[in-house]
Amino acid sequence: MGGIFAFACRSPRDGSAILEGLRRLTYRGYDSVGVAFLDDKIEVKKAMGPADRNPGLFSFTSRVALGHTRYATRGWPTVENAHPILDCTGRVAVVMDGVIDNYEQLRSSLASRGHRLVTTTDTEVIPHLLEEGKGPGDLLSALRGTFSAAYVRSGDEKVWFVQDGQPLVIGRGQDCLYLASDLPSLYGFADEAVIVPEGSYGYISASGELSVFSADGSPVQQLTSKRVKYEPGSLDKAGYPHYMLKEIYEIPEALERTTHSLMDKYLRLSGMILYGARRAFIIGNGTSLHAGMVSAYYFSSLGGMSIDVVSAAEFPYYALDSVGTGTVVLAVSQSGETSDVIRSVKMAKQRGAVIVGVTNVLGSRLALESNVYLPIGAGPELAVPATKTFTSTLVALMLLAAHVGLTAGRLSQAELNELYNDIRSFSRSLAEDMPAIDAAASKIAGELRDSRDAYVVSSGITYPVALEGALKLKEAAMLHAEGVQLGELRHGPMVLARGNYPIIVIKPREEAAEELYSRVMSELRAREAKVIEVSDSTQAALQAPRAPRPELYPIAAVAPLQLLAYRVGFERGLPIDSPPGLAKAITT
Ligand code: F6R
Repeated sequence: MGGIFAFACRSPRDGSAILEGLRRLTYRGYDSVGVAFLDDKIEVKKAMGPADRNPGLFSFTSRVALGHTRYATRGWPTVENAHPILDCTGRVAVVMDGVIDNYEQLRSSLASRGHRLVTTTDTEVIPHLLEEGKGPGDLLSALRGTFSAAYVRSGDEKVWFVQDGQPLVIGRGQDCLYLASDLPSLYGFADEAVIVPEGSYGYISASGELSVFSADGSPVQQLTSKRVKYEPGSLDKAGYPHYMLKEIYEIPEALERTTHSLMDKYLRLSGMILYGARRAFIIGNGTSLHAGMVSAYYFSSLGGMSIDVVSAAEFPYYALDSVGTGTVVLAVSQSGETSDVIRSVKMAKQRGAVIVGVTNVLGSRLALESNVYLPIGAGPELAVPATKTFTSTLVALMLLAAHVGLTAGRLSQAELNELYNDIRSFSRSLAEDMPAIDAAASKIAGELRDSRDAYVVSSGITYPVALEGALKLKEAAMLHAEGVQLGELRHGPMVLARGNYPIIVIKPREEAAEELYSRVMSELRAREAKVIEVSDSTQAALQAPRAPRPELYPIAAVAPLQLLAYRVGFERGLPIDSPPGLAKAITT
């Protein structure tokens, strides 16, 4: 992932416009930043960190400039890997947002034809293909993946672009045309913007031309325009009042990205490592621990293996004795910086364990310490309450478990392909359902506004989801909530189930739990408790989207709970994105 912001102007323009655009796109990633502008030749400047920490990069004037802010998914976050990336001659500079799946084959064939590749990115194949005389339309057929790219060439006062699945918009200002990754970043630069259609390419020029072509080269006649109407205060949040809400709405897109971000060869390798393990542990904290708990069911049902889930804070004291050669530790941390995880990983390594890291941050300590790491590629998550990284971690662990199953011969390649298809079709239907889920969550949030406590109840694979829902209510809504196993409710906690005490029940998907579910529900009804049902039934107070397979039900069930926690926090006027006394990563 990354953010693109470019201009093409009739008269020279200050580079600070690119700085401003990239600052607004920082939410798309910010491990490094770079800009190319046309002078007599192409000038490229790059640095580590976000745009606003590198204002010096933008002290230039030019008629044509192209900037990028990066979230690394292929290739470590380094200055060399920062965009723009040049071809061998330095005459083409390219930026990209997204991933190219077939980049390894392309890189080796380019190298065998004598190209000098100096980064470890997938983006680098583009400048070299262009150097060989390929055009933007050829890129659409040569590259597989989900991406948008933009480039400038020396001696050509245009910014070229190719859109194959990642958003691009074009705004027309007084003297300039702008190309950007989202509408809000154009606020103040243009009043209206054209949405670049998927599977198209084109250019904006310093002389004021805007051209868009379909993959077959024919001009696109009908282009959709949208008004740029965002308030300056909400720019980084793409119009949402909080990052948490924005990140929940990004879940479907993030799930799709996770399937592209995880490379087949590393999934296979990790699957083989786990299959061959004498003993396997999953470690993590908080939300990542809950993801690990859900995945124990995946490893059992898809991979046919049992795996122990231990809090990374407890691991050194209670599990380390059983760690030795032949042990595999699957370490899960969205930030990759959580000290409990890093400490446990280092101790396990000293005892000869192999570490498979699952993280959202390439270049993090966990990625560095792991023998193999799997980047979940959910995109930057800025709200302290983790949401889209939870669901993307679930998909990453689901695919890993399926690869264990593949190695074990439990699952065929066709069944694995079906799993990928189900994840993609589910993420599309989740995107459609999100506004309706949000509306239902808002309504219930009004009822919970003054509640002090709640239970979140479920069993089986959705019990960890109940724990996660309770954690979100604590963090975002500052409402004391406890996750309880459905069967355990009758063994004590039921004492509070009366009157207005909210009991949020995620209906288990497992058929075997049906009898238990009806028994507990009739007891709750008899006590006239305030039950809020979460399930895919149309009768449910919080209707979850239909999951095409049981493994996806935890994701379907958690989205309504995340939205509920957000909406209660919103009703209460809380600082949802940064709850008091909490940090995004606990590194001490
Ligand atoms: C939950 C939350 C924390 C983290 C935990 C682990 O919303 O933010 O519970 O999940 O501190 O963080 P990572 O996954 O970065 O290791």
